[in-house]
Amino acid sequence: MAQLWGGRFTKETDKLVYQFNASISFDRKFYRQDIQGSMAHVKMLAKQKILTEEERDQILEGLSGILRDVENGNLQITEEYEDIHSFVEAVLTQRVGEAGKKLHTGRSRNDQVALDMKLYVRDEIDETDLLLKEFLETLLQIMEENTGTFLPGFTHLQKAQPVTLAHHMGAYFEMFRRDRERLSDIRRRMNLCPLGSGALAGTTYPLDRAYTASLLGFDGPTRNSMDSVSDRDYCIELLSALSLVMMHLSRFSEEIILWNSNEYRFVEIDDAYSTGSSIMPQKKNPDIAELVRGKTGRVYGALMALLTVMKGIPLAYDKDMQEDKEGTFDAIETVKGCVLLFNGMLKTMKFRKDVMERSASRGFTNATDAADYLVNHGIPFRDAHGIIGQLVLLCIEKGISLDELPLAEYQSVCPAFGEDIYEAISMKTCVEKRETYGAPGPGPMQAVIEEYKIYLNERSTL
Ligand code: ARG
Repeated sequence: MAQLWGGRFTKETDKLVYQFNASISFDRKFYRQDIQGSMAHVKMLAKQKILTEEERDQILEGLSGILRDVENGNLQITEEYEDIHSFVEAVLTQRVGEAGKKLHTGRSRNDQVALDMKLYVRDEIDETDLLLKEFLETLLQIMEENTGTFLPGFTHLQKAQPVTLAHHMGAYFEMFRRDRERLSDIRRRMNLCPLGSGALAGTTYPLDRAYTASLLGFDGPTRNSMDSVSDRDYCIELLSALSLVMMHLSRFSEEIILWNSNEYRFVEIDDAYSTGSSIMPQKKNPDIAELVRGKTGRVYGALMALLTVMKGIPLAYDKDMQEDKEGTFDAIETVKGCVLLFNGMLKTMKFRKDVMERSASRGFTNATDAADYLVNHGIPFRDAHGIIGQLVLLCIEKGISLDELPLAEYQSVCPAFGEDIYEAISMKTCVEKRETYGAPGPGPMQAVIEEYKIYLNERSTL
């Protein structure tokens, strides 16, 4: 047990207490950010003449060596230290001697951990954003290839009106685009540097907090030292944004699972992205989509856990906050993994356009258009609705679709029908006539696709 404190204590910490308290098993994850923060801190201390340039250079060299050795596996982060901060400081002191002991001047682990977590979250937001962007690129490609692929649009899981696959994928494009925007909002709001807040009340050293902040790519220093060491809002916001990503992925997964079923057969998941059954040879299961749907639960769980951890904590730092890490780390890894895998699955998935189109032509998805036809012939919509309802019933009795019903039958219910009814209710017409902005018609669809292309080119990073 290597501890940073002890002067005031007359007894060793109980072993179980030590283990219960320690965080190195998980905060080792941000060793890179911890070292990055220490480097900036030391540069600032030297600039302010709190350390000499020689001390600064010794410390910087020591820290780079630690980073290098951890990365190449020559230095193991072991559990004999309480946390990553103690580990780095102890190794530094072993390596560079007296100067190492000065690293923690004007700093507390409270502002240090607040910084590390922010740096980590910021890096992970960037990585998640990149994965989401690649995912949007896949969606856009499917859209471009399928502006003329018809499938039924559903409400209440009942066939409603025909749409295109481009339009359907576009709905997901919008969801994941908003997810990226949420991440970017969070990143912007959190981008103030807590270092220099000390334990809670700042320090008596003449720190240049704005300098440290600029070295670390922050927009400036945080404005209240008590808030700085106790703020985990950004983690909660991140977990909330990640929960939404998972909610969207889960809905999408559910559709893929349905579409992949023998009943729908709209898609075929690539062999590389599906699994078989140990007993039933005919099976090809959509496990990836099911796992993504299932993993949504753990991300929601992390959000609820941290909201609960934070709700009763008096100002300023309390050890409860150490509980911010494992759930956040797990949620981030889960989301990144899910986006990556889902993207791969989607990219390699085959869309059975013929099955989709056949399905769209069944189930009276053109009934609204048949009613609109009558409206165009001077019949009030409410009456038209009733007339088409009767015709649908007739078709159901005969086991045919509206396209197959003879003109004489149409005219026997309403004389306003003419030969052009068949053209008016063809699937192509049904889709192509939907030209309002945001609809599946070719005009608005192309306009939206062009807009998406510009968006993806401009928003290559956050
Ligand atoms: N492991 C701690 C955490 O994650 C670091 C801060 C410790 N500060 C303290 N005063 N014990 O929150």
